[in-house]
Amino acid sequence: MEKTALITGATQGIGRALAAQFAEAGWNLVLVARRADRLQEVATTLSTGAGCRVDTIACDLTGDRAVDTVAGELDNLGIRIGALVNNAGVGDTGPFARSNRNRNRAMIQLNVTVPTELTWRLLPHLQEAERAYILNVASIAAFQPGPLMAVYYATKAYALSLSEALAAELRGTRISVTALCPGPVRTGFQVASNMEGAALLKTPLVADVQTVARYGFRKMLRGKRVAVPGARVRVAVFLGKFVPRRLLAGIVKRLQERRNQS
Ligand SMILES: NC(=O)c1ccc[n+]([C@@H]2O[C@H](COP(=O)([O-])OP(=O)(O)OC[C@H]3O[C@@H](n4cnc5c(N)ncnc54)[C@H](OP(=O)(O)O)[C@@H]3O)[C@@H](O)[C@H]2O)c1
Repeated sequence: MEKTALITGATQGIGRALAAQFAEAGWNLVLVARRADRLQEVATTLSTGAGCRVDTIACDLTGDRAVDTVAGELDNLGIRIGALVNNAGVGDTGPFARSNRNRNRAMIQLNVTVPTELTWRLLPHLQEAERAYILNVASIAAFQPGPLMAVYYATKAYALSLSEALAAELRGTRISVTALCPGPVRTGFQVASNMEGAALLKTPLVADVQTVARYGFRKMLRGKRVAVPGARVRVAVFLGKFVPRRLLAGIVKRLQERRNQS
């Protein structure tokens, strides 16, 4: 039986690497992002290499009707999906007081509203499948407050919370929900999120994108609820559970300030 995964943010970075994992495992793909030319390049590479069917939907997910557009395109293509990967996301860096209102709004739309609505809209597809998967790309940022990236960290805390709640609601069904929570990964994210030179990127927590995608895909197939790639990142998350959140916020703030000074 053919299986199709829909992946948002699949033109580069973690989404692109996840798409390759699905393709190698024999899944067909529907890839979503803004840049039609890049989507086409990725689609050609993956369909040629893995022999799978790859459809693309070029769409700015921060648009008001984006989720309806994506769901409508799936209907037009006659595709029912068996996996939904909510990966597209962006951050922003700097003091909240000086942040840009429209940028914050777009970030919340992309990181919070779109995954929520896309999941709600496409759940009927997943309920029809023999076995189905939701993979939400959260972040290590989900586990503590993030001064100087306050909105981004809060959006990722939402992603983790939503994932864990849905996983509990869907327990005993054929749908599993996994929150993938990577530490820092060098991708286009740093430029898009104004965080080049971040101190976090100079720590041993940095992982490469292929390792993160391979790990996330494997844990998704096993139905793991929270997947944290990298032993060091897992230790950091574990130790963080014993530190008061006020202190954790102070640690993140100091890390962010070091970046701001460099
Ligand atoms: N990199 C890290 O250190 C890191 C760590 C933890 C978690 N994450 C999370 O991992 C996810 C992927 O990030 P990444 O590192 O792979 O970032 P990336 O390299 O910047 O890739 C982002 C992807 O999202 C797409 N995208 C961005 N804005 C969009 C929009 N408005 N509408 C539709 N698609 C959009 C981009 O494609 P187009 O430009 O073609 O639209 C691109 O394919 C994000 O949710 C991020 O928060 C990243």
